[in-house]
Amino acid sequence: MSEMIQAAPAPKKRMLSGIKPSGDLTLGSYLGAVKNWAERADQFDCFYFMADLHAITVRQNPADLRRRTLEQLAQYIACGLDPEKNTLFIQSHVHQHAELGWILDCYSMFGELSRMTQFKDKSAKNADNINAGLFTYPSLMAGDILLYQPDLVPVGEDQKQHVELTHVIARRFNGIYGDVFKIPEPFIPKVGARVMSLTNPLAKMSKSENEDTGRVLLMDDPAVIMKQFKRAITDSDTENCVRYDKENKPGVANLMTIYSAVTGKTFEEIENEFIGCGYGKFKPVVGEAVVEHLRPIREESMRLMKDKAYLESVYRDGAQKASYVAEKTLRKVYKKVGFVAR
Ligand code: TYM
Repeated sequence: MSEMIQAAPAPKKRMLSGIKPSGDLTLGSYLGAVKNWAERADQFDCFYFMADLHAITVRQNPADLRRRTLEQLAQYIACGLDPEKNTLFIQSHVHQHAELGWILDCYSMFGELSRMTQFKDKSAKNADNINAGLFTYPSLMAGDILLYQPDLVPVGEDQKQHVELTHVIARRFNGIYGDVFKIPEPFIPKVGARVMSLTNPLAKMSKSENEDTGRVLLMDDPAVIMKQFKRAITDSDTENCVRYDKENKPGVANLMTIYSAVTGKTFEEIENEFIGCGYGKFKPVVGEAVVEHLRPIREESMRLMKDKAYLESVYRDGAQKASYVAEKTLRKVYKKVGFVAR
């Protein structure tokens, strides 16, 4: 009697990413990162964390940092990251991050770290606090990634350079000690990888800036979101026509990108939808689409924030699972570099 032998399903590929709780989550971090994570949660073995170790490279108010870290967890879950299917944890709860970060500091070169765009930007903005952590930030980030041996690192465009440096550091380490680290790939969304400020379409929408700089927060009240979109800067061309031209019409291109990301419509469909309409009609429609897209996320986040016991169970469980995986890599690294086993 011949029996059908069922092949075991191939193990899922692994994804890992994080966000600094240095400000409230913006529409930019949502479209560039979290939305992309949530859409793939079933296909991958996923690890997502709140990067609190990274957040303190810029001075934080302790109470705000604690609140934002928990809110961020609630928002991850509300955006569709089911804690049963995804490992959600707080970076500082998994001590292996700081440990591997230190080791990788010793395999990262001064020149490489000096060339990082984020370091240059942040040191210009925080001239009175250009601390060593701000400089070695990418080695810690390489540690965050390499501990979990992921296949893909889903990030927005601004983090691509750090993931590329992770390759360089991992290859350097593997070149000396053999194949210790898997080389991961950045995974950048096609639409929404770089959402720009609504008041300055040449600058990235950023969570650490204030509301006058044209950012929209995931938790903003619908009326505030509408106000932000109505006053969004469009372009000073005389055409007053909704057409995608990133070079010459960056404000309209940004609004089209946001509208496309929340509705799934292509740029061509959007252009057809708004034929004959000026920017004045286009802007509130984008605002309404964003409000409706964010409404369930906002409501669910608010509900979850009232259930602190549940959030605590999620991050404790997550840290335990993450630590188990991270420890395997860290032990291997300790052995390779020549530390005496405990
Ligand atoms: P952070 O906290 O600055 O941003 C979190 C994620 O959101 C994306 N993002 C955007 N995408 C599109 N448009 C925008 N305006 C926008 N603003 C932010 C970012 O690209 C990022 O994916 N260093 C990281 C956090 C980190 C990390 C890691 C990420 C620490 N360790 C390991 C991946 C893997 C950061 O500062 O992201």
